[in-house]
Amino acid sequence: MTIISEDISKAVKLLNNEDVVAIPTETVYGLAGNIYSEKAIHKIFEVKQRPLFNPLIAHVSSIEKAKAITRDFPVKAEMLAEAFWPGSLTILLNKNNAVPDLITAGKNTVAVRIPNHPVTLDLLEQLSFPLAAPSANPFGSISPTKARHVESYFGNVIPMILEGGDCKNGIESTIIGFEQNEAVLYRLGSISLEEISDVIGEVKIKNKQEIAPDAPGMLSRHYSPKTKMFLVDDVEKFVKQHANKKIAVIRFCRDKHIPGIEHIEILSEKEDLKEAASKLYAVLHKLDGLNLDMILAEVFPDVGLGKTINDRLERATKNK
Ligand code: TXA
Ligand code: MG
Repeated sequence: MTIISEDISKAVKLLNNEDVVAIPTETVYGLAGNIYSEKAIHKIFEVKQRPLFNPLIAHVSSIEKAKAITRDFPVKAEMLAEAFWPGSLTILLNKNNAVPDLITAGKNTVAVRIPNHPVTLDLLEQLSFPLAAPSANPFGSISPTKARHVESYFGNVIPMILEGGDCKNGIESTIIGFEQNEAVLYRLGSISLEEISDVIGEVKIKNKQEIAPDAPGMLSRHYSPKTKMFLVDDVEKFVKQHANKKIAVIRFCRDKHIPGIEHIEILSEKEDLKEAASKLYAVLHKLDGLNLDMILAEVFPDVGLGKTINDRLERATKNK
């Protein structure tokens, strides 16, 4: 059985021993292993049933450690690191020769971030290597924001979940890379595009087909519950059309009453998109456990973290 524990020294031992440990971050829980250990990295891919062509993020505790695995650090990357690290931004940088191809899926770039969680920062300080850590969920399913979400997925197959409480941001990091000198968005996430543009100016947005082969996290179906899910503009109309079904609805705020709904989840009574983003996955986990016929989500305002929420809802509702 997996042990949920706050004991950092135990996690250090397991990781030094080339095993894997689920770790808390401020975005989602990750499934971590030594980037230099083939054994640990293979175990991560195997446990997650993740295709090997999908590269992993290297987590470090300082900019110096990030620089130790990269060949160069563009000025704009420095500005972003300065503004957002430790925090929910992953930067794609040219890797140096020490970084194994296994974690970058053979790419020349490595994804790097300093997570903003005291427990994991403490853990990283005690290790002599960066931690590769994808989200701690089976490939394609909802990412975990609580230790017990990880337990429900991997309780019998990993040796330890390092307890760090609920993830504060609750949605993955934003990923930014560079083409020549231009910043490119690879994944919407916990830090809004507006916040990033405030620091480095314009960010190039490619269309999904252009980005998908480079960042498989952008595969269309992802972050999905088992229950049938729909993203709709007009909740009331949809509910009327499915009057005999057990339906739950996810809404941003409480602007009007909708009759005929079994269960309603308001993500932010005070209409705060950051609060809504932080609750989204926990609500999906909860609703997925209720044996409903369908989950409906309302389209969120298309600004700030609303864009990130809509991105995840679109992927969660794709059928393939
Ligand atoms: O918030 C997060 O980023 C969490 C926590 C645990 O840090 N991690 C996470 O990892 O979301 P994962 O593996 O679920 O998503 C990483 C994404 C994938 O979509 C992957 O394709 C992309 O990053 N990625 C990693 N390395 C890349 C690279 N060199 N080039 C392009 N995309 C890359
Ligand atoms: Mg993931």
